Amino acid sequence: MRHELRSLPALTGHAPEFDPGEVPSDPYDLFADWFAHARDAGVPEPHAVTLATADADGRPSSRVLVLKDVGPDGFAFATDARSGKAADLAVNPQAALTFWWQPVVRQVRVEGVARYLGDEASAADYLARSPASRAAALGVRPGERLGSVRQMRDAMSAARERVDADPGLVLREWQAWRVEPRRLEFWQGSRDRAHVRVVYTRTAGTWSPTLTWP
Ligand SMILES: Cc1cc2nc3c(=O)[nH]c(=O)nc-3n(C[C@H](O)[C@H](O)[C@H](O)COP(=O)(O)O)c2cc1C
Repeated sequence: MRHELRSLPALTGHAPEFDPGEVPSDPYDLFADWFAHARDAGVPEPHAVTLATADADGRPSSRVLVLKDVGPDGFAFATDARSGKAADLAVNPQAALTFWWQPVVRQVRVEGVARYLGDEASAADYLARSPASRAAALGVRPGERLGSVRQMRDAMSAARERVDADPGLVLREWQAWRVEPRRLEFWQGSRDRAHVRVVYTRTAGTWSPTLTWP
């Protein structure tokens, strides 16, 4: 595939105006601004984000998930306690998130520590899911060997009956987490490769942005 890959263009989106001299002091304000812009520009599923974790030996893995919330403390997501990512985070809370919004040539990178948000927040997140996605989570056994797709569908159908019969049922393994950043990067790509990077770091509770070479 080498030839094909090298011939494919990259950074083909339409970069909006971005003045790094005008960024807000709070990176969450910039995130909200970029997120709204991405959504309005038609970025498909702008809330899909890659989460990177590593196990106790530092072996990394990453996967896509959906962002559930953003607030002054960080970026929330939810998963199953039996998943690989939850196992990683239980022994090594260091985590990173990457958003890639291709149509606007923007990347946002978040690095920090992931914290479990507790049983109450986890139950609330689970109950806010649609009955179909509650059943999908209830019917699976993450990471275990599966005999057939049919077996999975049957398990999900049975789980749907349980959810419909008991709408307050909460999957005990459901977990809400939040990545609390120590570093955020806003990367505005440019077709001429003069990419603009603004990196926010925090000192004594105060964020400050730094324009950074690409
Ligand atoms: C668009 C998209 C959204 C997803 N959302 C979630 C999610 O919110 N939570 C989750 O645990 N997995 C989600 N997944 C599945 C994960 O990518 C992954 O396959 C699964 O969580 C198991 O990963 P792990 O074994 O590394 O923990 C999503 C996948 C895609 C492609």
